[in-house]
Amino acid sequence: MVPLGGLEIGQQKLSEKEKMVSFAKNKSSMRIDIISVMPELLHSPFEHSIMKRAQDKGLLEVVVHNLRDYGLGKHKQVDDYQFGGGAGMVMMCEPLANCIDDLIKERTYDEIIFLTPDGERYRQSIANQLSLKDNLLFICGHYKGIDERIREQYVTREISIGDYVLSGGELAAAVVVDSIGRLLPGVLGDEQSALTDSFQDDLLAPPVYTRPASFRGQDVPEILLSGNTPKIEDWRYEQALARTQARRPDLLEG
Ligand code: 6GU
Repeated sequence: MVPLGGLEIGQQKLSEKEKMVSFAKNKSSMRIDIISVMPELLHSPFEHSIMKRAQDKGLLEVVVHNLRDYGLGKHKQVDDYQFGGGAGMVMMCEPLANCIDDLIKERTYDEIIFLTPDGERYRQSIANQLSLKDNLLFICGHYKGIDERIREQYVTREISIGDYVLSGGELAAAVVVDSIGRLLPGVLGDEQSALTDSFQDDLLAPPVYTRPASFRGQDVPEILLSGNTPKIEDWRYEQALARTQARRPDLLEG
């Protein structure tokens, strides 16, 4: 098995100094703000399971801001027809700029991230990087997207979660925030478990089994019952490698 010792994160091995910084960060929590026109879509994903635990433990704070509160006029308008014509509305500069300005008055963001299908394809190494930050601001796009000037003025990073189109950035934000939150020190009960995830070493995870040892004529591989930890680690590594070769050979090329 590729060594999973210490605080190795993805490709990078942290220096002693970085380890200390990372350790010091344990005490402070990460703050994530999300700007959305559909805040309801973002409630449930953070109210259960590991994301809830992260917040209850004070390790992560997620605050969703309703862009409609910054909408213009009586109708709280947030989108408008695009210049040059064409189907689909565009999210306007003013509500977004006013909302972001209010937020950056309160804190300095390490990254202002726009979730968009034309962003950089999301992967585990980006989750690892972002999990080391203190303050992140996510902007969820809707309709045809946001006015390009907001991207130029404020956005520091653009992320897509895959090559397909979602109705809005909210589900993508939930995916990205979940993947970051579970990496924060103390969130997962067993610190090792995030390090043995699929993708953490560019390998898919090996098969896993639990009781009973025999189920409808299918037996758990004997090696797993042997108690021989080094042999079990070797077997898991071989299985992970074979599975990656069969399903995602692209991961082995990089
Ligand atoms: Cl981040 N947003 C939208 N609307 N669609 C997507 C996406 C993001 N990532 C993949 N498809």
